[in-house]
Amino acid sequence: MQPSTVRVTDQKALLDFDYQATTPCDPEVLAVMKPYWSELWGNPSNRQSRAGLCASAAVSLAREQIAAFLRIKPERLIFTSGATEANNLALLGHARARALELGRPGHLITVATEHHSVLDPLRQLQREGFRLTEIQPQPDGLLSTKQLIEAFQNDTILVSVMMANNEIGVLQPLDEFTKLCIERGVIFHTDAAQAFGQLHFNLDQICIDFLTISGHKIYGPKGIGALVLKENVPILPLQWGGGQELNLRPGTIPVALAVGLAKAAELAFNDLDSRYIRFCNLRNQFLDSLREKIPELKVNGSIKHRLPNNLNITIPGVRGNKLHRALRPLLNCSSGSACSNGEPSHVLRALGRSKEEAEASLRLSFGRSTTKDQVNNAVSLIANVVKELH
Ligand SMILES: Cc1ncc(COP(=O)(O)O)c(C=O)c1O
Repeated sequence: MQPSTVRVTDQKALLDFDYQATTPCDPEVLAVMKPYWSELWGNPSNRQSRAGLCASAAVSLAREQIAAFLRIKPERLIFTSGATEANNLALLGHARARALELGRPGHLITVATEHHSVLDPLRQLQREGFRLTEIQPQPDGLLSTKQLIEAFQNDTILVSVMMANNEIGVLQPLDEFTKLCIERGVIFHTDAAQAFGQLHFNLDQICIDFLTISGHKIYGPKGIGALVLKENVPILPLQWGGGQELNLRPGTIPVALAVGLAKAAELAFNDLDSRYIRFCNLRNQFLDSLREKIPELKVNGSIKHRLPNNLNITIPGVRGNKLHRALRPLLNCSSGSACSNGEPSHVLRALGRSKEEAEASLRLSFGRSTTKDQVNNAVSLIANVVKELH
């Protein structure tokens, strides 16, 4: 039997406040990708053909463009299918390489509020014999240098701390953490899927060994991301094949997606500074107005050290499932990560919120098209729903 064609009904909610889950592809990104789906269909690994050379040149240019925004040499950037794969490659690849060198597994450190694409490979390494410390952050979501210092052990080989949290938006003081790692000869990985394109950072200044980015968080295509790595950091591949991407990520590079990621990065960096200020103002307006109407609300995560496009609140005294069911037809937002399988957020639980509080929480994230009016409408909607549920 032929599979039936799924009918996608128009599920577009009235107001969209879930841009940290994903973003639509920008029309300019679509335009630059278009020829690489059909007319320019060469395989970038096939340098013997004109079409292959053309595809290879497009990939090289995309790599150079993205590298320029990260201020690194292009050779340090490996295309992957997204942030999940980049995190897995960095963590599994590095830990296993070091275990081979040392003849034994070592100790790994992370934070309990990481994305599952970091926590789960680290827990896999634990099953393989590595020891893992998952540090509980402070109630504001931040990790202190003291906490990290206390977590180090004699055989710690790797620390992974995300640059910006996907649920509560908090920004960890990575420059302080990398200094501690350098002093101890420990490798540092950061998942910057939510920070890339929202903040300026200089990789070499903060001495990051592995950094992860993703395309679909910045109005680029889904299915592409990258791992940036330092020269000579030990790493083993997770797959074997045609030797592409420094032998670390074999397989034909999706040329259109690589070109799209480069364009998305260009657009994100073009207006980063003005967007940063605009989002901070929108977020302050959102929070102030919500507080006026729902004084009992609790903010999750530090407001000071935070992405500009994120707000996360808990509304005490309402049932999470009722809150989300009532909001769903009106407002697109989330209670946690897009990859959390409906469980109460492990991030909010790590901050000390109860299961009920974690469920009665809203992650509200902004996109380029978010306006003051939309924020005002969202405040009224949320306040009305909360009033009805009380
Ligand atoms: C912080 C963080 N890491 C990793 C991922 C996974 O990204 P991708 O969908 O590119 O695999 C996401 C996206 O949800 C994220 O927010």
